[in-house]
Amino acid sequence: MKVYVPMDSAAKALGADAVAEAVVAEAARRGMTLEVIRNGTRGMIWLEPLVEVDTGAGRQAYGPVAPGDVPALLDGTLPGLGRVEDIAFFARQTRLTFARCGVTDPLSLDDYAAHGGLAGLRRALGMTGAQIVAEVTDSGLRGRGGAGFPTGIKWNTVLGAVADQKYIVCNADEGDSGTFADRMLMEGDPFTLIEGMVIAGLGVGASRGYVYLRSEYPDAISVMNAAVQIARGAGVLGPDVLGSGRAFDMEIRVGAGAYVCGEETALLNSLEGKRGVVRAKPPLPALEGFLGKPTVVNNVISLATVPVIFEKGAAFYAGFGLGRSRGTVTLQIAGNVARGGLFETAFGMSLGELVLDVAGGTASGRAVKAVQVGGPLGAYMPPATFDTALGYEDLDAAGGLIGHAGVVVFDDTADMLGLARFAMEFCAVESCGKCTPCRIGAVRGVETIDRIARGDAEAISLLTDLCETMKDGSLCALGGFTPYPVMSALTHFPKDFARRKEAAE
Ligand SMILES: Cc1cc2nc3c(=O)[nH]c(=O)nc-3n(C[C@H](O)[C@H](O)[C@H](O)COP(=O)(O)O)c2cc1C
Ligand code: SF4
Repeated sequence: MKVYVPMDSAAKALGADAVAEAVVAEAARRGMTLEVIRNGTRGMIWLEPLVEVDTGAGRQAYGPVAPGDVPALLDGTLPGLGRVEDIAFFARQTRLTFARCGVTDPLSLDDYAAHGGLAGLRRALGMTGAQIVAEVTDSGLRGRGGAGFPTGIKWNTVLGAVADQKYIVCNADEGDSGTFADRMLMEGDPFTLIEGMVIAGLGVGASRGYVYLRSEYPDAISVMNAAVQIARGAGVLGPDVLGSGRAFDMEIRVGAGAYVCGEETALLNSLEGKRGVVRAKPPLPALEGFLGKPTVVNNVISLATVPVIFEKGAAFYAGFGLGRSRGTVTLQIAGNVARGGLFETAFGMSLGELVLDVAGGTASGRAVKAVQVGGPLGAYMPPATFDTALGYEDLDAAGGLIGHAGVVVFDDTADMLGLARFAMEFCAVESCGKCTPCRIGAVRGVETIDRIARGDAEAISLLTDLCETMKDGSLCALGGFTPYPVMSALTHFPKDFARRKEAAE
């Protein structure tokens, strides 16, 4: 009998370690032989710790399991959830990037290969760099880190650059509010990211890679480090990738924890040991990136999606989605929701279906007031926008952005003026200080929102002007996108900005 208990840090935070210990202890007490496998998570966080028991007839799910439930679990009398794949939240997903997460033992390369791992890399090894880049271009993959830039175009620029050394840098800084897909993937299926980075290296002619991983993710750091060692030992990394005579090696670097270090040029500075300040573009990192050499900087999910594109083919991947938003989006549902977690689906589902149906509305049972899509710099979307399709262009047309696909839900008790103030304060605290609209503008923005809160209606037009200046004059999206949460709160919820004046009168 095999028992799967996730070692994902969200599951651990909910008691998975104690459950795993209880399973081992109870089995020993009974003289039972069973194998406990610490898998990644299936991403249904409201059910964690979600334990799966495989008696040979499919994996039966139980959750949330407490240590006290373990005797009943082993007796077979604990009420279960049926097969994991049949749980409604899971059944309606299209798992491509996350196909193995929660299924396999994250640090077993054999398990990885048995579930389709390395098939993409083996195929890529038979292709030229130009063919590899063309495959990614044809898949329609766009950067999942935030800006949605076509990955094929970025890779093609690096491929065409002439240099003695090129690099692949994986952006694992994941600082957006409500996001956890990068962490979950690295903890639950680390070889996918490694395989994606090797394919990227073969494609553009880079022999070295780095993962810039945020220090707040100790579990992901240790899993990734262990996975790199295992991959190197097995010849997936090193001077002779899978016996091909081609070289690619990589290492994990830990960032110190500033939001702006997720911006690719600040990240490169930090990786070089410098202060994490944004660099002016041009030059593009694709031409002058890490140590001044041509560099692909891609998000974890972008790179981790590359293996399935090569395993199943560009056309298969491009077959999902809508318009120019191809493939799947790894939505992260958080905040005040009944069912939070990772939901991978083809681009195109409506925001309302996701929030009200998939996530089951709010955990508090109250009405949804707003949903912030795309991290701390994303717009607050009111229920009136719920028919917007989740895709780059559709969200843009509705005044929002998909960003890293974090979705944070608020019920009708949310104070939108307070949330707008929080966005400005966030920008003021996290600003790298390089340009005035962001460095000074965000501080003035907080003051202006405080004036509005005190009942000064004239300050509203000042705030609008200030947001215009930040949008047009900032060097990077930290200052440039802060107006999204602020202005969307003001536009969609004007009452929250007038309330205090009425109270003062
Ligand atoms: C302030 C700021 C923070 C960012 N944080 C991240 C991050 O944590 N992770 C990420 O992948 N991209 C982040 N980005 C986007 C990166 O600059 C860059 O676009 C991305 O790493 C490119 O990878 P992709 O093309 O695969 O999305 C951030 C951008 C800005 C302006
Ligand atoms: S917008 Fe802010 S974070 Fe970006 S470069 Fe300017 S000061 Fe730095």
